[in-house]
Amino acid sequence: MAPPQLNNESGSSNNSCSKMPTQYSAAKATYTNATAVYKPYRQFAPLLVIFVGLPARGKSLLARRLARHFNICSEEAKVFDVTEYRRKLLFPYASHEMFRADNVEALRVRQQSVRDAMNDAAKWLRDGHSIAILDGPNVTKAQRQEVYDLFVEQLNFRVMFIECVCENKEMLERNVKDILIHSPDYRDMGTEKACTDLRLKLTHYKAQYESLEHGGYTEVPCATATVIDGGLGGVVAHGVKGIKEASVLSYITIPKVTNQQVLYFSRHGESEYNVLGRIGGDANLSPRGKKYAIALARHVNALGLRGLQVWTSRLRRTQATAAGVNAPKQIIPELNEIDAGICEGLTYEELQDQYPIEFCERDKNKLDYRYPRGESYVDVLKRLQPMLQVLESETNVLIVSHQAVLRCVLGYFLDVPHEKIPYIKVPLHTIIKLTLEGHSYRMETIKMPIDCVDTTREKPLNCSPTRTAAEALQTVPQHFETLSI
Ligand code: F6P
Repeated sequence: MAPPQLNNESGSSNNSCSKMPTQYSAAKATYTNATAVYKPYRQFAPLLVIFVGLPARGKSLLARRLARHFNICSEEAKVFDVTEYRRKLLFPYASHEMFRADNVEALRVRQQSVRDAMNDAAKWLRDGHSIAILDGPNVTKAQRQEVYDLFVEQLNFRVMFIECVCENKEMLERNVKDILIHSPDYRDMGTEKACTDLRLKLTHYKAQYESLEHGGYTEVPCATATVIDGGLGGVVAHGVKGIKEASVLSYITIPKVTNQQVLYFSRHGESEYNVLGRIGGDANLSPRGKKYAIALARHVNALGLRGLQVWTSRLRRTQATAAGVNAPKQIIPELNEIDAGICEGLTYEELQDQYPIEFCERDKNKLDYRYPRGESYVDVLKRLQPMLQVLESETNVLIVSHQAVLRCVLGYFLDVPHEKIPYIKVPLHTIIKLTLEGHSYRMETIKMPIDCVDTTREKPLNCSPTRTAAEALQTVPQHFETLSI
């Protein structure tokens, strides 16, 4: 059967290789060769998302959030940050002078860093991943044409441009401040010097900027979207046809908190099931769990957080834990604990005794393992995805949920590799605070001085089906036989 015909949406390319600088030709030759063997049907081709915009417009934060959004759905997305490539070529950062259009030496370095990022992004997509994100200013039409030529014309991938603009002065100022505080370029520069430097860097970029919006790039037929003020000012999109691009668009149209976002998390107080070492169920709080509920409320109420909201699961232990917090509460079923199916209510010892093969399978691959008639961690990640999108739009939210669910939520915000998520430590009677700093989250923990059991079961050394019961139970945390402790 003949292979499916490629639908050349892009028309003929009028950008020949001869237009490209010499360093690029070698890379082009390699890819030309690769194109000969890699010709997927275009609708399903991998997608490169290219960010466009001046510094301090929120590109890097949105790029990383977009990657998280796709990764939670098992798409494999990766950000290729041009600035990081530039630092590999040139570090430490000297000054704004390197961003002047007439600084030929520095321009070469900047171009090289884009090409290095492009090459790695192309490799990522050719290796079978579905989404790459090129995070960089890409402010000139020529630069964007170069990206388009490689990824669409040569590699037959799909591309989508996302331009970030910021018309809101306050937001822009906060973004600038974030760069001054968090960028490695300014780590060792005095505040005043850094402010002047960044201002001049912006001036140089503005002089070179050809906006997508103003017709700078309209002749290339691919999806484009302009995100105004982090989405608060709206999103203007053109030419969005593919399913992946539509998914990108639906994600970026929900405005997100871009600065000073603070989120709080806590597991419910110790439950009667926790005391007994049982999983799942809908148990009440233990006496120590009730003390934690009081301590949590006292701590959170004293913070006086503006607009605080509390989100709990549908299970009574989370609602009882949050009861004393003075804030509107929402019950969100997606925050319910992982469903252990036929194993609900068992201890790990009973699980080993009654379902040794299931117990072993879970230990072998805890991320993918699905309890019979229940859920896997992957299932939990998927069900949390819409809630996480909403959470990104909020600040000062306290989420009271459960061990497995909070592992997934923290894994998402902290970019923990998926296979490590089921082993993240989320102890009882501990408040976890995430603060958005630049484009990543910083975690702090506040342990309340109220005793509780430990429910963390580490991965045992022996995960083979021939292991003994003792080996299977090697890491089961201590618990009590009765509730009278
Ligand atoms: O043990 C408390 C608990 O919340 C159980 O209800 C749940 O099944 C378990 O933690 C999830 O942790 P793990 O995935 O490590 O078994």
